[in-house]
Amino acid sequence: MGATTTCQVLLILIILHFLVSTAQNNDATYLRALKDGWQNTPPNWEDNPDPCSGWDGIRCTDSRITSITLASMGLTGTLSGDIGQLTELQILDLSYNRLSGSLTPRIGDLKKLTNLLLVGCGFSGPLPDTLGDLESLIFMSLNSNSFTGQIPPSIGNIKNLYWLDLADNRLTGSIPVSSGTTPGLDMLINAKHFHFGRNMLSGAIPERLFNSNMTLFHLLFENNQLSGTIPDTLGLVKSLEVVRLDRNFLTGNVPSNINNLTGVFEMFLSNNQLTGLVPNMTGLDVLNYLDLSNNTFDPSDIPSWFSTLPALTTLKMNNTNLVGQLPTALFNIPQLQNVDLSNNRINGTLDIGSSYSNQLQQVNLQNNQIADFTQRRQYNTEVILVENPICMESGTSGGFCSPPTNTGPSYLTQPNNCVRTPCSRDQVSSPNCRCAYPYTGDLFFRAPSFSYLGNAAIYEALRNEMVDSFRMSQLPVDSVSLGNPSRNLDDYLVINLQVFPSGDERFNRTGILGIGFSLSNQTFKPNDTFGTYFFIGENYDFLTGASRGQKSSNTGVIIGAVVGGCVLVALLILAGIYATRQKERVERTAHESSPFALWDANNGSGAVPQLKGTKAFSFEELSKYTNNFSELNNIGTGGYGMVYKGCLPNGQLVAIKRATRGSTQGGLEFKTEIELLSRVHHKNLVSLVGFCFDQGEQMLVYEYIVNGTVKDSLSGRSGIRLDWIRRLRIALGAAKGLQYLHVLADPPIIHRDVKTNNILLDERLVAKVADFGLSKSLGDSNRTHVTTQVKGTMGYMDPEYYMTQQLTEKSDVYSFGVVLLELITSRNPIEKGKYIVREVKQTMDKSKELYGLQDVLDPTIGFTTQLKGLETFVDLALQCVEETGDQRPTMSDVVKVIESIMELVGFNPNVESASNSASYNYASKGSEHPYTNDNLFAYSGDHFPTKLDPK
Ligand SMILES: *[C@@H]1O[C@H](CO)[C@@H](O)[C@H](O)[C@H]1NC(C)=O
Ligand SMILES: *[C@@H]1O[C@H](CO)[C@@H](O)[C@H](O)[C@H]1NC(C)=O
Ligand SMILES: *[C@@H]1O[C@H](CO)[C@@H](O)[C@H](O)[C@H]1NC(C)=O
Ligand SMILES: *[C@@H]1O[C@H](CO)[C@@H](O)[C@H](O)[C@H]1NC(C)=O
Ligand SMILES: *[C@@H]1O[C@H](CO)[C@@H](O)[C@H](O)[C@H]1NC(C)=O
Repeated sequence: MGATTTCQVLLILIILHFLVSTAQNNDATYLRALKDGWQNTPPNWEDNPDPCSGWDGIRCTDSRITSITLASMGLTGTLSGDIGQLTELQILDLSYNRLSGSLTPRIGDLKKLTNLLLVGCGFSGPLPDTLGDLESLIFMSLNSNSFTGQIPPSIGNIKNLYWLDLADNRLTGSIPVSSGTTPGLDMLINAKHFHFGRNMLSGAIPERLFNSNMTLFHLLFENNQLSGTIPDTLGLVKSLEVVRLDRNFLTGNVPSNINNLTGVFEMFLSNNQLTGLVPNMTGLDVLNYLDLSNNTFDPSDIPSWFSTLPALTTLKMNNTNLVGQLPTALFNIPQLQNVDLSNNRINGTLDIGSSYSNQLQQVNLQNNQIADFTQRRQYNTEVILVENPICMESGTSGGFCSPPTNTGPSYLTQPNNCVRTPCSRDQVSSPNCRCAYPYTGDLFFRAPSFSYLGNAAIYEALRNEMVDSFRMSQLPVDSVSLGNPSRNLDDYLVINLQVFPSGDERFNRTGILGIGFSLSNQTFKPNDTFGTYFFIGENYDFLTGASRGQKSSNTGVIIGAVVGGCVLVALLILAGIYATRQKERVERTAHESSPFALWDANNGSGAVPQLKGTKAFSFEELSKYTNNFSELNNIGTGGYGMVYKGCLPNGQLVAIKRATRGSTQGGLEFKTEIELLSRVHHKNLVSLVGFCFDQGEQMLVYEYIVNGTVKDSLSGRSGIRLDWIRRLRIALGAAKGLQYLHVLADPPIIHRDVKTNNILLDERLVAKVADFGLSKSLGDSNRTHVTTQVKGTMGYMDPEYYMTQQLTEKSDVYSFGVVLLELITSRNPIEKGKYIVREVKQTMDKSKELYGLQDVLDPTIGFTTQLKGLETFVDLALQCVEETGDQRPTMSDVVKVIESIMELVGFNPNVESASNSASYNYASKGSEHPYTNDNLFAYSGDHFPTKLDPK
């Protein structure tokens, strides 16, 4: 073969190769470059050169990589700068791997990144300043690495940052705040979590760090080297729920406005050098856990607030200079579990009374001045009086003179009505007594609300929540086992976790990286009893068996080496192809947005769909109506962006959903959504007023509904009392709204996220169903289901839907059944691990009046008035939550039944009574807004003041 022919053949090969690789886009090249820096990548990365062809842990949209989730894959190596090229990346989770080296500054090029999760790796070196360029970031977890240096002030630029976890590193320097043009963390007014514990941060906590615009829930600065006084600006952050400043070198007085933080559940100020008076905690009515131990407060009498904190489970004031006699009333606090007042000068007689908390486990008064104990013989809690005068008298004996026992209670998940089978080496018997290889690790809870570790019920609740959450995320989980709860030296509660696979005896990679992500990303949220956590996963042995395929040879390189003289020609040809492709790409982009642009501009030209009464707003207009999208107008935040209240020139109030850049959809999809929404008009549906598709923004403008969500009213937060009649009206209104969507909308619409948070109440308390953002049109009306990615909200979701992914109207009926149960009980669908459907079914006894449900019903529903028709209502709700769709009624059937109940009660269901208007005072709304659809943090656990179950 002559040289020319060889050259031609090679050219053809090169061109073919080029065509193939550009079709996959350059992302593939860069991911392969990243892969070259890693060992132990998933075996199926060798099967096909295109990462978008199903590589484990990689997700793509239009052959661009949007998500890399590789938790617990056993990766080693470093993260190279190539990551910066994956500019469509939204989620990066490399948690629980043995990656090392520094974090590349190129990370800042990922403008669309929303979740950055590098928990429990071995990264070191400084945090790059470019982290501040991650403008779409919501979630940053860099905890449990070995990062050094300062916290980059630039992080203050990440406007929508919600979660900032830098804990458990070796960070030094002071906490950066803004000044002049320098950014700082005080600017993070949308952040809910500052987790900086277990570092070496020093200097004073800046006064400027806190301001009244902040919305922080958790402030965790424990175990650093912070000094100086606690700034009194802390008292301005009213949203705080957990404050941990313990294990630092803080000095001076605790600011007197600390008791302005009335939402705080857990407060740790222990192990500092605080002086002055013991702080006044009066009014902290939800405070569960208070630790002020080991400070040098002025000697003071037992504070009067001791007996007045109604939610207290734990009071620790070891070594705080307390003087005087303990009030008996302290022990009457109903949920009190643990009192540690050792090393003080408490004197007089100890009297724990006869009606002390039945949860009381331990009263430690070691090394005080107590001379007598009233209940010397009858008490059933551990009282420790060693090193008190009473125990020094000769002849006094009694258990209370022994030092504390250090063997705390334990817990281990027990088999679930089965007998554990002996398992072969390395396998473990699951709670369902199947031998399998569990995924294991430790859960660390940084501020649990309790101190007694022996209450099995709370762990059972946690287990159930976890299994539910994994299953909702479609992870192949059979069961979860928890064990060995203990407090570590940092006062974190550590619990060992084992997750067992369903079906097979071993998880595959998708299973593990999914569970890892669920825990690194806090997708699983425990209830407030446990509060915030982090997880450190162990390596999982996948034992893939199949030998690794040969590393695919890089044809490009080989051919390149051979080609020699053909190069120039080849390059010219390639350049030509590239130019053509670029042009096509530009044209394609233009074409995608153009129909919409035209439609926008020409308002109703022939080719363009009819928009009934829906107005196109310009960016400038909406900006004007919302005061330049000012903070004051911001009434909600969610994964997709913000919600603003606005006022149109005609005086109409509107709620404007503004997508952040990262969460906008394609122009065509947005257009489709608008078309659909604009066709929907019904008095029980929130209507779309207009939209904005301008300057790269996507916004939906809805009518504003003044009385907030049904959830707010049921929880008592809105101040509107809902009696039986009002609840029936709400049920009927919402049912009619859904009936319209299912039957009368063309094409029919399935809501997909029916819940009490999505049912709003107008000024006349008429129910309006909101948030069609997740709705899915059935399209061709002959189809009865669509197969979709499962979306929805935990607790409301149709089990049939999440098993089969087949969405039908009956999925909405299921969710509506849960709403009906919530309407009579005012309980969250899943509360403390209990599922409302199961609760009602188990409690009910049809032979009794009100089916014997009195204990489950919301007392504010009004028992004095007869609850006529309640039984029928419960029957209906339970039909709606039948296991399979075909056993459930249609929304039209539901409407008929509720109408019949209203007639029975003596109301004409079709007449809106005037007395129905809301005449109650409504309290200001909570942080949650009806239009908020906080997908990333999908269910509510984060900030509800649930108290411990007194049982
Ligand atoms: C709080 O926000 C308002 C409105 O954006 C602003 O005017 C004010 O200066 C902010 N206050 C602080 C302390 O940052
Ligand atoms: C505490 O809160 C109350 C009510 O919000 C407010 O009036 C008072 O000024 C606050 N006190 C301090 C010291 O911030
Ligand atoms: C008390 O707190 C100081 C820090 O202020 C610490 O150094 C010391 O170890 C603590 N003592 C105990 C017993 O924890
Ligand atoms: C503590 O604060 C409460 C309310 O803020 C007040 O009534 C009480 O007098 C204070 N107690 C002391 C000892 O300062
Ligand atoms: C109380 O603090 C002392 C030191 O001040 C420490 O030695 C002791 O272990 C602490 N006791 C308890 C029960 O925490």
